[in-house]
Amino acid sequence: MTLTPQWLDELRSRITLSTLIGRTVKVTRAGREYKACCPFHNEKTPSFTINDEKGFYHCFGCSAHGDAIRWMTDQRGLSFMDAVKELAAEAGMDVPAADPRAAKKAEEQASLRDVTQAAADWFTQQLGSSNGAPAREYLAKRGISEATRKAFGFGLAPDSRSALKEALKKFPTAMLVEAGMLIAVDDKEPYDRFRGRLMIPIRDARGRVIAFGGRILGDGEPKYLNSPDTPLFDKGRTLYNLDKASPASRQTNRIVVVEGYMDVIALAEAGIADAVAPLGTALTENQLGMIWRMVPVPVLCFDGDSAGQKAAMRAAMRALPLLRPGFSLAFATLPAGQDPDDLVRARGAAGFAEILEDAQPLVERLWAHEVAAGPLATPEERAALKTRLLAHADAIEDADVRHHYREAFRERLDALFARRQPERAPRVPWAPSAPRGAAGRRFAPDPRLQPPAHETRSIGQAGIAAPLVAALIGGLLRYPEALRRNEEALTRLTVPDSADAELLGAMLDIAIGQEGLDCEGLLAILEPMKVYNRATTLLRADGMHFSFNRRLESRQGAAPAPETALRDLEEYIGVLVTQPEIRARLAEATADFQRTMDDEGLARQQRLRAMDEDLTRRLAALSDSSGQ
Ligand code: UTP
Ligand code: MN
Repeated sequence: MTLTPQWLDELRSRITLSTLIGRTVKVTRAGREYKACCPFHNEKTPSFTINDEKGFYHCFGCSAHGDAIRWMTDQRGLSFMDAVKELAAEAGMDVPAADPRAAKKAEEQASLRDVTQAAADWFTQQLGSSNGAPAREYLAKRGISEATRKAFGFGLAPDSRSALKEALKKFPTAMLVEAGMLIAVDDKEPYDRFRGRLMIPIRDARGRVIAFGGRILGDGEPKYLNSPDTPLFDKGRTLYNLDKASPASRQTNRIVVVEGYMDVIALAEAGIADAVAPLGTALTENQLGMIWRMVPVPVLCFDGDSAGQKAAMRAAMRALPLLRPGFSLAFATLPAGQDPDDLVRARGAAGFAEILEDAQPLVERLWAHEVAAGPLATPEERAALKTRLLAHADAIEDADVRHHYREAFRERLDALFARRQPERAPRVPWAPSAPRGAAGRRFAPDPRLQPPAHETRSIGQAGIAAPLVAALIGGLLRYPEALRRNEEALTRLTVPDSADAELLGAMLDIAIGQEGLDCEGLLAILEPMKVYNRATTLLRADGMHFSFNRRLESRQGAAPAPETALRDLEEYIGVLVTQPEIRARLAEATADFQRTMDDEGLARQQRLRAMDEDLTRRLAALSDSSGQ
């Protein structure tokens, strides 16, 4: 077994010492360090400090001192080799086999690094030369300053099959091939892999160049070309910008995960330094582990379109089995069709910060996804929702976290379904021509519900604020299929304005009796009715910020994808229905708590408050996601 100093260094750098120690003793943050009561001697005030940057702990009381390996031997009582093995497993490193070639391999890696560094230097020099003028212009056009260009080590691979090979001829050709810089096919002469591309060095956690991404200048395929996996570069175990984001995250206590390296760079240009990106693939377990070693709840950014939302769910699924107490994910949703690069350019760092602030916790993301996944009108459909949610909870390996997910889902399901209001006239779907008068009453305020404590809230228990109703009806007029699919939920809404209530009732009646209705068809049936005027007014209304209120045929061509709008609309209906119910229960819980003043009552009250706040956030996120 040959453990080189380089290998041990790498191992130490991949372990966050405070996290490791935090599993045994309670650690608290103190500036750039962590403090704890020393586990090696008896004390009441903490004199044990942990420095993650240096990878050392030190006790000012008893002088205990060491690194991650020392911690495992001294505190956990492991042998040196067992300590190394356990840490290596956690860091995702292979312990070198008992093999004299291992030392040689480490040496080879070192020389492959020389190759990639030499290539990076040469690419940079090319970009600075007269050949580089068009590429520099391209960067300037993308708003990348010279400082950022230097900080990220941008370079240029000229459009040639042999220029790099020639420039690096002091290295053996086989090494250039192994480092991924040349392509060797069969017995043909190896040639430059990157040609006519803007070069972006990919660095390891310690800032050493291990690979490259190359972007085509202008249009062409493929847009991005990465180095292949090499002895230095394993793309599933590498995060772009980890070397810079990790120290930045200690200042911000945050890590933002975006899709592409140009997004990371655009964010850095805007002053946001704590972003990383995977390298053209979905996040791997290993990458999640790396991110969780920096912060407990990283924020993942996804496009608001359906591909982005699918990717978000994929990341959520991958994370579930790995969740541990305190460690989770948050999901920020970008306006459809915009990546972080577009967004910071349009709205600046502050605009991006707003999106991050609205990030949904993982539990909320799963809930919202499943509630929006299909209709919930029949008992079977509701049971299926419950099954899907509990299946997510069951994917969680940690028993405590799993338990709390189950509880959270049960609580939300109860909130969504338990408060039935039997005194309302039940709708009879096979009788579409129910008397019009009844339709109006269907949305009358429920007298049992008290008005909320602060009237400023948009969704009160006394009914939904007029602009929200206008947005709802405007959306339903454009996407009438949502009427049928959400009939049950819509009949539970409290609409205070009688004209709006009547219009919504008429729309529901029409939609129930007529399948496959589109906007035009619905308007044609409404036309002879008294509610028609109100319908056209709402359709024309401007100043709505929801995707489902945007013109179907906009002159700017900015209409959202129908499936996005429909999904947003259904989520919106979900919030409108759920929030008054949550608030009613919150009012009850608050009153109960004021009477009993017990812990359980307080916990329940706070849970409901958190749910209410979640819903408010969802509403805000929906109104943002129109991209305007
Ligand atoms: P995008 O196509 O969204 O690129 O791919 P982008 O980041 O917006 O790039 P610009 O703004 O047009 O320059 C997102 C990520 O997917 C990977 C890259 O990692 C990219 O950053 N990708 C994309 C590839 O690996 N190969 C490709 O051909 C395209
Ligand atoms: Mn982009």
